[in-house]
Amino acid sequence: MTPGGPSLQLNNFVGQSEAAAVIMPEPKPFERLPAVVRPTHYNITLQPNLVKCVFQGSEEITLDIKEPTREIKFNTLELSLRDIKVRLGEGESVKPSSTDISTTTETATLSFDRPLPAGTATLSLSFSGELNDKMKGMYRSKYTSVDGEERYSAVTQFEATDARRCFPCWDEPALKATFDITLVVPHDRIPLSNMPEESRVPHESDSNLQVVKFSRSPLMSTYLVAVVVGEYDHVEDTSSDGIKVRVYTPVGKQEQGKFALEVATKVLPYYKEYFKIAYPLPKMDLIAIADFSVGAMENWGLVTYRETCLLVDPHNTSASQRQWIALVVGHELAHQWFGNLVTMEWWTHLWLNEGYATFVEFLCVDHLFPEYDIWTQFVTNTYVRALELDCLKNSHPIEVPVGHPSEVDEIFDDISYSKGASVIRMLHCYLGDKDFRAGMNKYLTRHQYGNTYTEDLWSALSEASKKPVAEVMSTWTKQTGFPMITVASHQDGDNRVLTLTQQRFLADGSAGDSSQWMVPISISTQEDPSKVAQELLLESRTMQVVLENVSESTWVKLNPGTVGYYRTQYPPEMLTQLIPAIQDKCLPPLDRLGVFNDLFSMVQAGHTSTVEVLKILRAFEDEEDFTVWSAVHNCVARLNQLLSHTDFHSTFAAFVRQLFSRIGQRLGWEAKPGEKHLDTLLRSLVLGQLGLYGDKGVVGEARKRLSAHVAHTTTLPADLRSPVYKTVVAQADEKTYEQMLKLYREADLHEEKDRISRSLGATRDPNLIQRVLQFAMSSEVRNQDTVFVIISVAMTAPGRSAAWAFFKKHYQELVDRYEGGYLVTRLIKYITENFTSEDMAREVEAFFKDRQIPGTERTVQQSLETIRLNAAWLNRDQQTIKKYLADLHL
Ligand code: BES
Ligand code: ZN
Repeated sequence: MTPGGPSLQLNNFVGQSEAAAVIMPEPKPFERLPAVVRPTHYNITLQPNLVKCVFQGSEEITLDIKEPTREIKFNTLELSLRDIKVRLGEGESVKPSSTDISTTTETATLSFDRPLPAGTATLSLSFSGELNDKMKGMYRSKYTSVDGEERYSAVTQFEATDARRCFPCWDEPALKATFDITLVVPHDRIPLSNMPEESRVPHESDSNLQVVKFSRSPLMSTYLVAVVVGEYDHVEDTSSDGIKVRVYTPVGKQEQGKFALEVATKVLPYYKEYFKIAYPLPKMDLIAIADFSVGAMENWGLVTYRETCLLVDPHNTSASQRQWIALVVGHELAHQWFGNLVTMEWWTHLWLNEGYATFVEFLCVDHLFPEYDIWTQFVTNTYVRALELDCLKNSHPIEVPVGHPSEVDEIFDDISYSKGASVIRMLHCYLGDKDFRAGMNKYLTRHQYGNTYTEDLWSALSEASKKPVAEVMSTWTKQTGFPMITVASHQDGDNRVLTLTQQRFLADGSAGDSSQWMVPISISTQEDPSKVAQELLLESRTMQVVLENVSESTWVKLNPGTVGYYRTQYPPEMLTQLIPAIQDKCLPPLDRLGVFNDLFSMVQAGHTSTVEVLKILRAFEDEEDFTVWSAVHNCVARLNQLLSHTDFHSTFAAFVRQLFSRIGQRLGWEAKPGEKHLDTLLRSLVLGQLGLYGDKGVVGEARKRLSAHVAHTTTLPADLRSPVYKTVVAQADEKTYEQMLKLYREADLHEEKDRISRSLGATRDPNLIQRVLQFAMSSEVRNQDTVFVIISVAMTAPGRSAAWAFFKKHYQELVDRYEGGYLVTRLIKYITENFTSEDMAREVEAFFKDRQIPGTERTVQQSLETIRLNAAWLNRDQQTIKKYLADLHL
């Protein structure tokens, strides 16, 4: 969930397992709200002041009091409350005798002199707060108006626990209520909320204002409520199933909303057909927000996006960004059913939302853009990322107990998203599409407007499929990690007999614990590489499989399509048989990259030497598939981080240049007329690699093309800009750097600004590195983007220590800026995990021991574990790698 597209890679690897043991801090004290009083309806009026950047509001909350009580407790944070009273039924109003506000528990407790009777009551109060800069609750987002004035819009971001910063409420996903929202706004501003506008009247005392009331919402969770007030243009259309869809853009940029509009209007009927349930609201708005902490948020009927995750400028948007936008739109619209209509009971089941939406975004993009071959890309982005995190001892189960808001924030990670989506994909394959869909429909119908536990999904799917879904799936969602399936093979006449054994796979190569999984396994053979020859469910530690009429001389492969969430360890003879099938491409792309990626993980865990991977890499020189190349690239990037400080790094660079040179030549710099989307992606990947590793031809050409671009003689196509910028910046002097800054300042499209600012970190020059870090913190870079610029610095060898030193110096400022949260967690992960020595592990450990930053605890433990794995990997293999590379005489 890196905004702007999946990009950065993880680490891991052996030894020192004691040092990497799981030491999580004590969970913070946390209690859910008492069940005696529950809200059923909110009537909220909000009036943001866009000049003073404050807001005031009032609300009436209809309560269901289950038994007499002297206390009412609800969530509120950073709001001042006034005029609190409770009206009992239709009758008298009582005031609380005291109001106790706690910032630790983020609650207010009202105490009453005498018990409030059971039944219906109405809590009314007024409140006010600040439109903050933290991108949480109701906050302000800056833009420049058409006449050049700096202005603010008011925007909300509530998930997971920040609705309480905007209006006092029972801020838990299971406490669904209906909402009447009214916005008091200036005449020249656009007010938006989840539901369509119902009425608009002049304000009774201020002629500059109008009072806009929205229709009543269905029963929904507080984290999905949204409002936006600002200046926007829009494009609109009606989907074939009659939903009014609008895409709101910055003023004057409505053209840039057209792509998303087209995607959204097609996606809504697609989901309606897929789930067999209509989208329940009358309208669907998508809006681009200039300051936004995550990539996008699925507020019911009013989905908010980072500009880069929604806007397409035909001349300046790259093919990969367009693809990413389609995925994001598909993801957020999937939540309208899965998440909004049916919601998890508590954040422990967050993965139901995020894992499922991540799976479905691929279904829908595959339907709309078959040419993207998106399911293949799923494996290199989503599936592999999950496995790489999940092989750490400091991973966590998909279903994880969480309480305090900072713990909730931390689980929006690759386990909830990527492992969640990967196990659902495995389940989808195990059940078949027909039963899977029937089960989904049962689940959504049965629980609409309600809340669910993970088990509810399993029940519906097993009813539909008659398969033991809960038994199989709970082994995947309740246990941390995944199995390695070790294969042994012998011949019995015409038959091949495989013995499969499962054991938890750990990055340090240790034997793991006693965990066992129920593993749906499929097997393919040389006879028909793209067909599943045999299927079975591995239910015990070990099992034998007989493959009839499979001769000794042909290959056999587990996990065709790379669907099963496990690693396969082959004996050398079986692996040797598979290599020619990679080289001559008899194996389908997903299988080529599956074999390779499994082998690479064995290397990281010390089961095999890195040299084996280097040897196989050379089998890919004639590869043509984008996704296979991106798997190769992921592996090369990991090795590059590992070897960056060794005395033979230049030989490694030469090795990579050679690896990519043939495909580089084949693709060239110019797009062929009407070429495939995936070739476009491949070209920027390959040229980027050649440039990064210093291929002279590519570096020279990149410089030339950038000069022509800057001089406005020949514009660089959007797809080539990132690789060109990075290549040039990597060798840049002060003058080139200034030129890049000028391009940044002139860029109007946010995607272009991102591309430039995230290339700046490629510089190797110590002075420029410092300038990039300063720039990242300057007012020229929005808070939402700062961390990505710092991360770009941390990705090079000299930048890594500079970024870390910078973080240590500025961490307080950074933590205050974001109040913890997702962006700081990302930053810590990427600037620490690539270190490769025990000394650095100790330093990072000591730093965070003294400074516990809420919501980053697990991430820090994961980084420490990864650093120690890197150190052991390097110790183990560096001499043999050095010798292998030297013997190639590159
Ligand atoms: N519900 C999330 C947004 C979110 C993320 C809220 C983290 C709070 C914390 C949304 O559906 C989402 O997953 N957004 C992703 C993009 C998606 C395409 C993977 C994001 O923001 O990165
Ligand atoms: Zn999501």
